[in-house]
Amino acid sequence: DSGNVAIAIDGPAASGKSTLARILADQLGLVMVNSGAMYRAVTWKVLREGVDSHDAGAVIRVLRETILECGDDGRYSTIKVDGIDPGDELRSEAVNANVSAVSAVPEVREALVALQRDYLKRASVVMEGRDIGSVVFPDTPYKIYVDADEEVRAARRRDAGELDAVSKRDAADSRRATAPLMVADGATVLDTSDHTIESGVAAAIEILKAQGLHLI
Ligand code: CDP
Ligand code: CDP
Repeated sequence: DSGNVAIAIDGPAASGKSTLARILADQLGLVMVNSGAMYRAVTWKVLREGVDSHDAGAVIRVLRETILECGDDGRYSTIKVDGIDPGDELRSEAVNANVSAVSAVPEVREALVALQRDYLKRASVVMEGRDIGSVVFPDTPYKIYVDADEEVRAARRRDAGELDAVSKRDAADSRRATAPLMVADGATVLDTSDHTIESGVAAAIEILKAQGLHLI
């Protein structure tokens, strides 16, 4: 046991997970890890190889041939795929449209969960995703499930200038057999629909205190 602490932030697309995780990490001096970027990175490589994201066997072959370097810059997680940082391409429409299929493949999840757990050996983290409280760090007492109304989430994506079929992605992420999106045991739900970013952070800090976090 490294003695490091993990704060798990899960929820559907555009609920505000990364915004919250980033601010919490900054305020608490922890490393913010974006696990979705790892699924997006594998998807980016799958698309580059011209592979059908629904062909699990082909996706697994791509995974085996790919070198993923997951690190951090002291504050935020970083990722390289075969030595390349895909940057904004991780949030392209093509990646948005294919990432749920790639992330439903159990072998992909197994590989990425191992890389996610490695972070905790090196640092205390705020990690955001879909299964952080349920699968990656089920034993952490610090778990928030961030939610927001579907219309609010769609509007947040439009405001960001993104065309992202969030409801389709949420449906796929919630229905998959392995590690579906769900409220983990012990997680507290935080609905950000009527929150500003600032008031959402304040509410999250109250939740973490109630869960026994003493860093604050
Ligand atoms: O930022 P946004 O909420 O739109 O998505 P993301 O967190 O970057 O995650 C992209 C996709 O990766 C999700 O739609 C899931 O299919 C997958 N994912 C996952 O399966 N498990 C995680 N822990 C994180 C992401
Ligand atoms: O990571 P996830 O996909 O869950 O959401 P995000 O990337 O943090 O995006 C949420 C968007 O909603 C951002 O543009 C935030 O500025 C905005 N927002 C928020 O995160 N929280 C609020 N309470 C209000 C707006």
